[in-house]
Amino acid sequence: MSKAIIAPSILSGNFADMGNEVKSLKAMGADWVHVDVMDGVFVPNLTFGFKMIKDIRPLSDLFFDVHLMITNPKRYVERFVSSGADLVSFHYEAEDDIGGTLDIIKSAGCKCGLAINPDADVDVIIPYLDKLDLILIMTVFPGFGGQKFIDGSLERIAKAKALRDKLAPSALVEVDGGVNIGNAQSIISAGADVMVAGNAVFGATDRTAAIKQLRGE
Ligand code: DX5
Ligand code: ZN
Repeated sequence: MSKAIIAPSILSGNFADMGNEVKSLKAMGADWVHVDVMDGVFVPNLTFGFKMIKDIRPLSDLFFDVHLMITNPKRYVERFVSSGADLVSFHYEAEDDIGGTLDIIKSAGCKCGLAINPDADVDVIIPYLDKLDLILIMTVFPGFGGQKFIDGSLERIAKAKALRDKLAPSALVEVDGGVNIGNAQSIISAGADVMVAGNAVFGATDRTAAIKQLRGE
């Protein structure tokens, strides 16, 4: 089994020192940078948009995993790609034209993902699996870092992995919300390929050690 990909979420970083937060992630052993974009409408919180991504993009060669928590993402996905995303994911709950939005991301030369909230039936992703590079299983309701992993989420991860194995073998299963050193190994065993970690990395006194421990090293 290949090692889990660890994607620290810069939402939990210090916004006044974001350049250094991003720069330091590679040396700490992170695999991806998880970039949480919130619009204050789809979720009750606001973060940042294109300019932040453009400005931090040259500071790291890590894979930029952009998670859009915005209403009608179709309007904006192309601009997130040109701002420097390597992968753009958006929410099933936030867009009527899911297939069309995935096509725009792909034709802009970027990888695409579809996120589902903790209360969505995992089966809703089935019609889109053939287009997806990533299935994002939310294990908290999106909006804030530092929330508690929702009980019962391991079954949802396992279900997503089973669908992936059967219908989209090259897609990755990503888990986002409440991942910590205590639950990471059960999340990996349930089928996660990628784990987002905000608080568990940025809140740790030794971030390098935290990333290793999340991977189970
Ligand atoms: C939640 C965001 C997550 C969040 C993860 O809305 O999508 O990426 O920042 O933070 P932790 O790991 O602290 O739950
Ligand atoms: Zn996220």
